[in-house]
Amino acid sequence: MAPATSRILILYGTTDGQTAKVASAMAETLRRLHLDVDVVNAAASAGDVRAEEYGAVIVAASVQAGKYQRTVTRWVRENAAALNGRPSAFISVCLAALQHKPEVVRDIEARLQAWFAGSGWHPEMYRAIAGALPYTRYPWWKRYMMRRIVAKANGDTDTTRDYEYTDWADLAAFVSAFARRAALTPRGDDERLAS
Ligand SMILES: Cc1cc2nc3c(=O)[nH]c(=O)nc-3n(C[C@H](O)[C@H](O)[C@H](O)COP(=O)(O)O)c2cc1C
Repeated sequence: MAPATSRILILYGTTDGQTAKVASAMAETLRRLHLDVDVVNAAASAGDVRAEEYGAVIVAASVQAGKYQRTVTRWVRENAAALNGRPSAFISVCLAALQHKPEVVRDIEARLQAWFAGSGWHPEMYRAIAGALPYTRYPWWKRYMMRRIVAKANGDTDTTRDYEYTDWADLAAFVSAFARRAALTPRGDDERLAS
C-alpha cells in the first residue's frame, strides 16, 4: 500500500560533523521543492522515529574505519521492511570517493552491497560522496593518524587547514532526482487531496 504521507525523513549519523552538514543541505534542496522534511540525528533520536511514518526516507552516514555509525546501522536493520516499502536512498560519506581508481570504485560498491545485504535494506538510489578532512578540529592523535593515511593515498596533508570535498551541486542533483523518482507531493497537496 502506498504511504499515506509525503513527508520525508532524513536520518543521519555523523562523527565529525560533515554528514550533519550533508543532511542539512539535502533538507534545504527538498524544502526548495516545497516538500516537508524532518532531519533526525540517529545518535540523539533514532529510537523516536520509524520509517513507516514517512512517505520517503533518505539515510546518510559516514565511514569511520570501514564502518558506519552503529546507531544508523541498527536503525536501518530495525526499519528495513518499512524502508523497502517506500522510496528510499542512502548517502555514504567518506574519503575513498575522492579516488577514481577502478579498484577503489569496486571496493566502495562491494562494501555498500555487503552493508545493504547485512541490513536487509535495498534502497532504490544510493551514492558514495566525498566528505571532509577537518584537520584543525581533530585531536592531535587523530590529526597525526589521518595525515598518515591520507598521505598514502596522495591526498591533502597540510594539517594547519581543513579540507571540504563534498560536491554540493552533485548532491542537490541527486536529491532532486530522488524526489522526482519518488513522485513526492509538494507541501499542502496532502490536505488538498484529502479534502
Ligand atoms: C578516524 C577516521 C576514520 C576514517 N575511516 C575512513 C574509511 O575507512 N574510509 C573512508 O573512505 N573514509 C574514512 N574516513 C573519512 C571520513 O569518512 C570523512 O572524514 C567524513 O567526512 C566524515 O564524516 P563525518 O564528519 O560526518 O563523520 C575516516 C575519518 C576518520 C576521522
